[in-house]
Amino acid sequence: MKTERDIPMKAISFKMMSMLFSLRDIVSKPVKKVNKAKIKEGYYVLDYGCGAGSYTISAAKAVGVSGKVYAADIHPLSAKKVQKKALKEGLTNIETITTDCSTGLTDNSIDVILCFDMFHMLNDPYRILKEFHRVLKPDAIFSIDCHHINDIEAEVAKTGLFKLIEKIDKTYNFTKIINKT
Ligand SMILES: C[S@@+](CC[C@H](N)C(=O)[O-])C[C@H]1O[C@@H](n2cnc3c(N)ncnc32)[C@H](O)[C@@H]1O
Repeated sequence: MKTERDIPMKAISFKMMSMLFSLRDIVSKPVKKVNKAKIKEGYYVLDYGCGAGSYTISAAKAVGVSGKVYAADIHPLSAKKVQKKALKEGLTNIETITTDCSTGLTDNSIDVILCFDMFHMLNDPYRILKEFHRVLKPDAIFSIDCHHINDIEAEVAKTGLFKLIEKIDKTYNFTKIINKT
């Protein structure tokens, strides 16, 4: 069921958030968090709820020209912002997706999913986690960080879709449990 939480925020709110995150990125470099997800050259990465693309850009640099980053967000301004940043950085390995859940990506095609600071915005997290489970390769990493949620490990684990493999500071790396949908 969709509620207000599955509706994109107002354009002005998105723009203000993007400005605030530009400041956040000066204090806390996106590459530091992206490194925790163990991204390698040639990887296919999904940055879900990518916003203005702070982590998308960093991930795109890490995967290089042989890899690709799918930048997905419910807000139409996100794609515009990410495309503008990619152009400025000379990155040609980013594809934007505007969605509230379904990515349209192939089953078992993604090496790393980044889900940073967005889980608290979901009305039905299970719906999104099922989509992550579908697109993630076996043994690949689903990396999540959300300071708005007290026990993110329990929230994800209770779905029975993923198991925790590593916790680095406040970032949790999960891998998918096979034979669950
Ligand atoms: C707080 S921002 C974080 C953006 C980015 N991950 C970062 O940390 O810089 C959360 C983002 O999630 C997006 N979002 C919220 N609900 C969503 C949904 N159901 N599907 C995709 N994106 C969603 C919002 O539009 C927003 O851009």
